Amino acid sequence: MGKLKVGLVGIGRGTAYGSIFTRNPLTEVTALCDTNEEKLEKHGRDYGLADTALFTDYGRFLESGCDIVVLGTPMPYHADEVVDAIEAGCHVLSEVTAASTLEGCERIWNAVRTHDRKYMMAENCCYMHFAKEWKEIADAGKLGDIYYAEADYVHEIRDLVIDAVTGEEKWRVHRAPLHYCSHSLGPILQLMPDDYIVSCTASGNRATILPHEGVGFIDMQVGLFKTKKGATIKVCRSSVATRKTPLCTYSVYGTKGCLESGRTNYNNTGLRYIEGEDNACVPITITTSDPNAPEEAKLGGHGTSEYYLVRDFLDSIVNNTKPPIDVVRALDMSVPGLIAHEAAMEGGVWKEIPLFWR
Ligand SMILES: NC(=O)c1ccc[n+]([C@@H]2O[C@H](COP(=O)([O-])OP(=O)(O)OC[C@H]3O[C@@H](n4cnc5c(N)ncnc54)[C@H](O)[C@@H]3O)[C@@H](O)[C@H]2O)c1
Repeated sequence: MGKLKVGLVGIGRGTAYGSIFTRNPLTEVTALCDTNEEKLEKHGRDYGLADTALFTDYGRFLESGCDIVVLGTPMPYHADEVVDAIEAGCHVLSEVTAASTLEGCERIWNAVRTHDRKYMMAENCCYMHFAKEWKEIADAGKLGDIYYAEADYVHEIRDLVIDAVTGEEKWRVHRAPLHYCSHSLGPILQLMPDDYIVSCTASGNRATILPHEGVGFIDMQVGLFKTKKGATIKVCRSSVATRKTPLCTYSVYGTKGCLESGRTNYNNTGLRYIEGEDNACVPITITTSDPNAPEEAKLGGHGTSEYYLVRDFLDSIVNNTKPPIDVVRALDMSVPGLIAHEAAMEGGVWKEIPLFWR
């Protein structure tokens, strides 16, 4: 079998994955697509691609014959671009979240379930080194049954919502804090492989830090999610809160123990208590990078997470197995945030998740 041909869409996250696919012996990057011609030409040169491999038009890009499409475009484009790529016969690795609307999620579900192509959502937080270590602990039964978890993702990216100088509004103006929930829900749900969210409520609909129109300016949203097995998950989200550095933290409580990460940036010291092993909480290292991975494994932007994520995605193609974050899990991690935002806008009602994929 020749190398799998990879096409990258969206310079930024697309090309972050590109640096990993370029170094993987199974794949080669053969095409780039971006609506920004200047970026396209610059990155085309970096990848050593001919002008004929650079596209501003997604339809023509799909005609170039890629085996794999890596989507690093803004969330509102994911639904159309995933469906078109799957229908064109490509496997898809898509940036988070699955889609920005419920209708878009439904179209992705229908396309993936009716075509023999792999779809994986690139939820890189699930692949951070500590998250993989936590999964091993949970899979070994050391936490018992998980009944409560929480995740805060507070990352001030005001300049990606609105340009402070020109006032230009970016696509994130339309992204409510809880729409971007998979970084929070993902690492928690992967500790609960047989469980999923069935209902939710949320609070937070005021924009006082940046008092502009648009859900992307909402100060902070807090969602409460109930799972099929009765666990509760709390998620706190903001893109504008006055906090530096970013807060990306997780806690999980099971009947036999608990795990907590710290609150200082991505790499920090957390705590573990496991009944029968620990007399009290003991410090644990929270790191995004696997210390034993090769240096090139750190090129994806978030420790070694993208490197291992790509390996799993390629394994699923080569061995024809289910990707770890397949369409079902992608929707489990994406749709609850869309519904929770609706709940917040309706004053904090509880809402059922429309589980069309279950
Ligand atoms: N996993 C992570 O850690 C992480 C971090 C940042 C962003 N993201 C995700 O990555 C995606 C992109 O976010 P971003 O901040 O890089 O977006 P962005 O606005 O910077 O756009 C990325 C690139 O896509 C191009 N583009 C825009 N629309 C396009 C289209 N229709 N077709 C082709 N190219 C197009 C833009 O010119 C730009 O070069 C989003 O889904 C976001 O949620 C994930």
